[in-house]
Amino acid sequence: MRLLIINGPNLDILGKREPEVYGTLTLWDIENRLKEKYSSVKLEFYQSNSEGGIIDALHKALDGSATGVVLNPAAFSHYSYAIRDAVAALKVPVIEVHLTNIHAREEFRRKSVIAPVCTGVIAGFGVRSYELAIEYLLGREDH
Ligand code: DQA
Repeated sequence: MRLLIINGPNLDILGKREPEVYGTLTLWDIENRLKEKYSSVKLEFYQSNSEGGIIDALHKALDGSATGVVLNPAAFSHYSYAIRDAVAALKVPVIEVHLTNIHAREEFRRKSVIAPVCTGVIAGFGVRSYELAIEYLLGREDH
């Protein structure tokens, strides 16, 4: 099983970025924790601060070699139709994740334009959001 874990803008500065909102773990900490916990799964991590970088990473799942995608599009969640279209093109399940509960935050964060083309959305559990998404993908019968 091979999963792509794709993170969007400003997630590379986790730990330094509004720690009262996003916590003190760095993206490196999160990635290492996932690698340790799911050592039997091939996890591939991508992070980009640009829309095109995220789209290119999503395109890597087009050839069917990945079993699923865990995607935190960060602020792009709220307005990127280009990322939405890239997700819609995929045949493998894509789980949108957020560290924070976007529904309990500012109005502009409450809507994700990408969520309607995802298999599911997990928000508000910090690093556990990623773990819950991976658990779902591991538990699917058709992998
Ligand atoms: C986020 C929520 C987004 O609204 C925000 O722009 C982020 C992080 C989260 O993981 O909680 O950068 O996706």
